[in-house]
Amino acid sequence: MSPRSERTPLLADRPRDSDDSTLRAEEEEDAALHGTPVPPVSRRAGMRELVLFVWALLATAGVIVLAVILQHHNSIHSPASTPPPPPISPGDPSAGGPYQLPPAAAAGKKKPKRNLIFMVSDGMGPASLSLTRSFRQFTSSLPIDDVLALDAHFWGTSRTRSTNSLVTDSAAGATAFSCGRKSYNGAIGMLPNHRPCGTVLEAAKRAGFATGLVVTTDVTDATPACFAAHVDSRWQNDEIALQEVGEGPLGRTVDLILGGGRCHFLGNGTEGSCRADDVDVVRIAQEKHGWGYTNDRSGFDELRLGKNVSLPMLGLFASADVPFEIDRRHMADVYPSLSEMATTALTALEEATKDSDQGFFLMIEGSRIDHAGHMNDPAAQVREVLEYDKAFKTVVEFLEKSDTEGILVGTSDHETGGLSTAWQAPGHLPVYDWYPTVLAKANASAEYCTFLLKQRIATRIATSPPESKQSLADWINQELVIRRLGITDATEAELTALATNPLAANPIFCSMVSERAHIGWSTHGHTAVDVNIYSSGGAAASKIRGNVENTDIGLFLIDYLDVDVEEITKELEHKLKGTSSSAEALESDMVETGGHLVGWGGDVEFQARRQSLFAYS
Ligand SMILES: *[C@@H]1O[C@H](CO)[C@@H](O)[C@H](O)[C@H]1NC(C)=O
Ligand SMILES: *[C@@H]1O[C@H](CO)[C@@H](O)[C@H](O)[C@H]1NC(C)=O
Ligand SMILES: *[C@@H]1O[C@H](CO)[C@@H](O)[C@H](O)[C@H]1NC(C)=O
Ligand SMILES: [Zn+2]
Repeated sequence: MSPRSERTPLLADRPRDSDDSTLRAEEEEDAALHGTPVPPVSRRAGMRELVLFVWALLATAGVIVLAVILQHHNSIHSPASTPPPPPISPGDPSAGGPYQLPPAAAAGKKKPKRNLIFMVSDGMGPASLSLTRSFRQFTSSLPIDDVLALDAHFWGTSRTRSTNSLVTDSAAGATAFSCGRKSYNGAIGMLPNHRPCGTVLEAAKRAGFATGLVVTTDVTDATPACFAAHVDSRWQNDEIALQEVGEGPLGRTVDLILGGGRCHFLGNGTEGSCRADDVDVVRIAQEKHGWGYTNDRSGFDELRLGKNVSLPMLGLFASADVPFEIDRRHMADVYPSLSEMATTALTALEEATKDSDQGFFLMIEGSRIDHAGHMNDPAAQVREVLEYDKAFKTVVEFLEKSDTEGILVGTSDHETGGLSTAWQAPGHLPVYDWYPTVLAKANASAEYCTFLLKQRIATRIATSPPESKQSLADWINQELVIRRLGITDATEAELTALATNPLAANPIFCSMVSERAHIGWSTHGHTAVDVNIYSSGGAAASKIRGNVENTDIGLFLIDYLDVDVEEITKELEHKLKGTSSSAEALESDMVETGGHLVGWGGDVEFQARRQSLFAYS
């Protein structure tokens, strides 16, 4: 593709018939900057350009060779003193190279007591940050240079592909973090050969650290599961629940679990269960593994933000997902927020390790940034990211105050939705803007509006003949579109579509908000775009500065805690010998089509089950 055709959209802005030589000069300047050749104008000029191009190519090659030689020379002759954390630069040999764990012999030298907090912003790509930063500046009347806590701790970027796809899912993504190994989409603490890999959490527990998992979705969902369970497929939630409380090959490895997904812990005879069997996981947790258990807001309040927690503690505050923050804040008497749960976990784990010579490992996930991405709901996502940012800030402040050495690393497993902060309306010219005010006016998620709509239809069917389409459309406009979404100019077509097919309401609500805000989406699934890495920083984290693989982040976690995952892998191998009978079946079933794994929202049965579980009280 020529630079000219690449730049065509930009040129739309310029006077089209301006002097051609000006354009030409600009192109040459651009080409010089980007090292690309300029397309020939005429045959003679073309010959001259070709010669110039070949010359430029050779010169560039020469410069690269020189740079490599110099780099090599420097690395051999650099002084032995510890350098400050290196700046991010593409030529930095410590950035982007394969992560080297220190030799096993070095592991004998014990590092001082330390805490490690690993945060995952599931499905948050770089555009989510631009979206949220501008939204906050707009809604809080802040200056242009006001940034998020995350922005102030930007550290690098991560490449995210899995073994079987350029586009990862959360399971392969989290296995990269927990084991430091690449695997297939769907893998929960499993390698491509369907053998288990020891995780940083398991190895930390074995080394005497306290451990915790905090999420806003099901605690059996892919990200948390990858730290404390080993199954072939992320959909094995029933088995994951059992392993998380201590029924897995290693026994109990987690000390604190806070989040949603209660339905996977209740036997199928109990109301609110989503298990296929009648196993009472809560009871097994309490009676066999000594867990304390709480399942509601008053139980959460008794934890006194971590000052009144005795470990192990299992807190399951929602049947499935904790509602999106945009909705939860109106139901704060029912559900705790991510930052409240994070504070509770930090305080509880610090208290539990105060007399220990080992600290703690805590994973905190902003799980539902991803769900808002899957649904393409920007109003929900912006509040999810703000809440995640608040939790991030809470952790940074904890580390600043703590007497124990510690570090925070945060990243995303992948981007979701192909979010972009500008959108060209079909049949219109591009507009160079997007409109935070639309998101600010929305007072509920599309998910919650859809829930209210279904509730309305259900009660109408029960009490009287179904209401007319017009009456339903009026109600939708008044109660949901105007009152909840803050949209006062709904079209006849939109309202008719909603009233005609309420089951498909969610994507319609999402489009109504997105289009008015000029927010674009390219997919209801994940994308392969690199994601950001954030850190409280310091020399220790220099190995994941710059652009690295997601597995490098996992290896860093293992390295920082100085724990032995290989030993755990061997133990798992030994204990699970010959048990992976279902591996082949699952592989053909899911993994091989898994190159195109239909993730959240694609699995109809899963989604139907999930929808029926939403129990806003
Ligand atoms: C409940 O689980 C038991 C096995 O644990 C099973 O036999 C039974 O069919 C299940 N019931 C339902 C309604 O799924
Ligand atoms: C502390 O937790 C216990 C349960 O473990 C509860 O009985 C007690 O009321 C809690 N204390 C406070 C002050 O909430
Ligand atoms: C926002 O939603 C809540 C209920 O969820 C409602 O009580 C409140 O009036 C709404 N506020 C606005 C400004 O629409
Ligand atoms: Zn994910």
